[in-house]
Amino acid sequence: MPRLFQKPKEEEPSTTLDRMLPAPKHFDASLTDTFMQRRTSYEFSDEPISDQDLVEILWAADGVNGSPKSDHRTTPTTLNWREIDIYVVKANGVWLWKPATHSLGFIHGKDRRSDLCLLQPFAKNAPVHLVYVYDQAKTQGLMRDVLTRVIEFVKRDDISAMAQEVLDNAPLLDTGTKVMAVYMACAAMSINCLARLTFDAKKVHSTLALSKTQKALCIQTIGYKPKGLLDLAF
Ligand SMILES: Cc1cc2nc3c(=O)[nH]c(=O)nc-3n(C[C@H](O)[C@H](O)[C@H](O)COP(=O)(O)O)c2cc1C
Repeated sequence: MPRLFQKPKEEEPSTTLDRMLPAPKHFDASLTDTFMQRRTSYEFSDEPISDQDLVEILWAADGVNGSPKSDHRTTPTTLNWREIDIYVVKANGVWLWKPATHSLGFIHGKDRRSDLCLLQPFAKNAPVHLVYVYDQAKTQGLMRDVLTRVIEFVKRDDISAMAQEVLDNAPLLDTGTKVMAVYMACAAMSINCLARLTFDAKKVHSTLALSKTQKALCIQTIGYKPKGLLDLAF
């Protein structure tokens, strides 16, 4: 059966160099245990996150699932737009998650983690920040045209307002599904995690070298639990 909202081709911001991550493995924790463990944390070890743990988290946020031919993702998006890119900010630079190849595209090699922290100094040394970036250019297509035409030509304010609301809400809701998937992946692996909307949007835009059609919507900070005295003793 043909799919209603077909994604014609993968369009990712271009990067010069890709670093392959290991293949994602299965999570062992039960769904119930994972829901029981899900928390927001405000403490992070500065220990780097391993590539294997990172790929599990990124796969949960936006990974290819099912058979490779089915081209499905772990998280859904409005009209299958796939308009949210995930940038990975680490001590060794800024990277772009590429779900189709489970690799990281190189953006630049500077440690700009502190640019992402506004009111949370405790997050500055966390090893990884995921930045969810909406790309309006990825929402172009038949369904957006239909909605835009509805807004332009229907003479009913309520219908125009509804169509506009769909366009406005989609990127926020599509980001939310990814945020929750990452909370769950982190809970399943006992990794600390904090979603936050507090950041300097202008600074983040330049740190990630974003284009005019892109906008950072949310940041999720990730790190191992800080070691306690007992951990350090043994
Ligand atoms: C989309 C989103 C944005 C959030 N933004 C912030 C934030 O800016 N600062 C903050 O300290 N916590 C932020 N949080 C964390 C919430 O405050 C936290 O989820 C809430 O206190 C409930 O705690 P729990 O996640 O441990 O259940 C955010 C959570 C979500 C889902």
